[in-house]
Amino acid sequence: MEVLESDFVVIGAGLAGLYAALRAAEYGLVYLLTKTSLSETNSAWAQGGIAAAVDESDSPQLHREDTLKAGWGLCDEQAVEVLVRDGPQCINELDRLGVAFDRTPWGYELGQEGGHSFRRIVHAGGNSTGQRIVARLSELVMQNSRIKLIKQAPVIDLVTADGVCLGAKVAPHQIVLASVTFLATGGAAALYERTTAPSGATGDGIALAYRAGAELADLEFVQFHPTALALPNAPSFLISEAVRGEGAYLLNQQGERFMPHYDERAELAPRDIVARAIFTEIHKAQAEHVFLSLQHLDPELVRSRFANIYQTCLRYGLDATRDLIPVAPAAHYSIGGVRTNLWAETTLKNLFAIGEVSCTGVHGANRLASNSLLECLVFARRAVEAAIQRELPKPRPPKLSQADSWEPSHSHSHIHPQVKRLMTEHVGLVRDRRGLKYAIGELSRLESEGWGPAQDQALAARLIAQSALLRAETRGVHMRSDFPWENPSWQTHIIIQKDRLMRR
Ligand code: SIN
Repeated sequence: MEVLESDFVVIGAGLAGLYAALRAAEYGLVYLLTKTSLSETNSAWAQGGIAAAVDESDSPQLHREDTLKAGWGLCDEQAVEVLVRDGPQCINELDRLGVAFDRTPWGYELGQEGGHSFRRIVHAGGNSTGQRIVARLSELVMQNSRIKLIKQAPVIDLVTADGVCLGAKVAPHQIVLASVTFLATGGAAALYERTTAPSGATGDGIALAYRAGAELADLEFVQFHPTALALPNAPSFLISEAVRGEGAYLLNQQGERFMPHYDERAELAPRDIVARAIFTEIHKAQAEHVFLSLQHLDPELVRSRFANIYQTCLRYGLDATRDLIPVAPAAHYSIGGVRTNLWAETTLKNLFAIGEVSCTGVHGANRLASNSLLECLVFARRAVEAAIQRELPKPRPPKLSQADSWEPSHSHSHIHPQVKRLMTEHVGLVRDRRGLKYAIGELSRLESEGWGPAQDQALAARLIAQSALLRAETRGVHMRSDFPWENPSWQTHIIIQKDRLMRR
């Protein structure tokens, strides 16, 4: 077994991980671990962009109000304050690092998305924002001699001793010890059959942090994106909300525009409202999907601003400027995760959680579109700032036991089909007590029978289902058919630590 030592170890190489690695490298040696390659992250697949109040007529306070309104009373107001205040500065910082955002002669070209009262979505390469940013930051990481990148390095456990995180165990035979560990492993949306996330989004960070004893929060809030491509034999490719921001309509099977009947903001209502309306329309018509219509938009705008979507649809025989696009909701984003404070510190000493794996509290019960890349940047920066303020002891190698001679792992992105089926059928967009109880039983069984990654996937899935069972109400993205209304007594968080489920 090889033992490596460093000042910082970053687990995960999406936007939060890359950005934290670059900033931490100003202060010491960084190991950056990714279980796949640099381009297979949810960040790299993000289309819409980054929400930030950069326009003169906009303000962080307006951004704050929109975020709180979308979050159904569960946002942490201080965390939201930090997010919106630091947003414009983070955009400047990316600009300085050479990310080429789309511009007009007057400044950034700004997109519109659901729940935002202003055009405030900064984007790059039309709708290839995540890919452009990740590509540029990856370039900088590769050029930085203080960052040691290890690819195909799945972390199978956090190393802990006396309530302190000391680093990570990596399959097949490495331990990376570090004074500070940044967990940036992304979300769990790939545990579902229909998902917009890459196959690596298997909730690893949830399982790692849970086993290490850190607190998790709000796991029941899994956001379904309303409009993923719904064609047989095609992936559930994301059709960005920015398309609706430019005026696209949602039509039901009768060809009627239905969103104005559900919300006065119509197609630009927050995501939970649009997803729920689509679910209702699909259910009413006993259909598989509704349609997105771009037919009335300028074809040139569609081809240039949404080049990626246009090309992908063409590949499946649809011309988005002329044909209706079949769409249905798909699992997209984990709102809950490893609970942190305002500096991204978890409840386990020297472990920070950043990006989608974390639960900073900024999203409440329903994330506002394009606030996630912003959260990655703002809280990765704060995490590094907090880490370097500490008197950081050099990590001591822990005593290794028999259990530390682990086997080389197979695929850490292969998801157990039964986990996917259970999550899709019983822990999906709409849940109820009976289905959740069944899923928990089956997932526990898979967990006890499984091994390695399969066991961790079943564990992450079970924790999500248990939180969803406990929350006996409908709030934000969490919809219970047996409790269809919001219940004020549930304006509270669900925290999990070891085997304890708590309301706080
Ligand atoms: C989208 O482009 O619709 C996705 C953006 C996001 O999830 O924030």
